[in-house]
Amino acid sequence: MRRRVPDLERLRGSGLSSDGGPKRNRGARIRPARSADIPELARLYRDALRGADPSEFPWWDAEELRRRWKAPNVVLGVEMFLLEGPDRLIGAMTIGRLDGDLEVDGLVIHPRFQQMGYGRRFVRFAERLAARRGHRRIVVEELMSQEGVPSREYGYWAGLGYRPILGPRPTAFSRRRGMLEVRLARDLGVGSRRASRGRPKGHR
Ligand SMILES: CC(C)(COP(=O)(O)OP(=O)(O)OC[C@H]1O[C@@H](n2cnc3c(N)ncnc32)[C@H](O)[C@@H]1OP(=O)(O)O)[C@@H](O)C(=O)NCCC(=O)NCCS
Repeated sequence: MRRRVPDLERLRGSGLSSDGGPKRNRGARIRPARSADIPELARLYRDALRGADPSEFPWWDAEELRRRWKAPNVVLGVEMFLLEGPDRLIGAMTIGRLDGDLEVDGLVIHPRFQQMGYGRRFVRFAERLAARRGHRRIVVEELMSQEGVPSREYGYWAGLGYRPILGPRPTAFSRRRGMLEVRLARDLGVGSRRASRGRPKGHR
């Protein structure tokens, strides 16, 4: 049996893990990652991001992750959260800050568990976390071609209610791919209390 994780219990106490996912994924839970998760985390990223450029993703190299890990769950300036089932890791999400907003910096669900509502459940978790931290909205950056054709992931976020608020414009990240970047946001319907400003170092 897995050891209970104090941070998760704290999130439960605040209602953050009662995430309303479909019944079939209720057995899974969301918790902050810890350094002991690194080997499984690296495997998850390798499985989920096949075809991506490894130099862009330190996440899938266990040694690299270990070098960059800052306790309790910070890697490259973003917080790492996990979605785990009873016997394996299902997904991972990194959360950072971008111009005072909370940003979903990255989201991966293992290919065997995609299209089952886990991604949506993770996103709704991030939104509650953002609201609890006093953010008025949550943002994500996605790519679009120079001709205005959005990436697959752009469509995913649009389907979850995210709308463009900035761009399309070239950024350091998008230029390397010959693409443009668009910032999408979802309003959380809460007042901003003490959201901190500035962008931490992320993987982009
Ligand atoms: C993109 C990703 C995170 C989606 O997670 P998921 O668990 O498969 O998605 P969900 O099951 O929660 O889907 C939620 C909704 O989005 C839709 N959806 C899923 N993937 C989609 C896509 N690529 N484009 C448009 N809609 C999509 C689903 O059909 C579902 O809609 P419904 O509720 O009306 O049926 C997952 O496919 C993944 O990890 N892909 C590889 C990594 C990646 O591309 N990450 C991008 C985000 S940074």
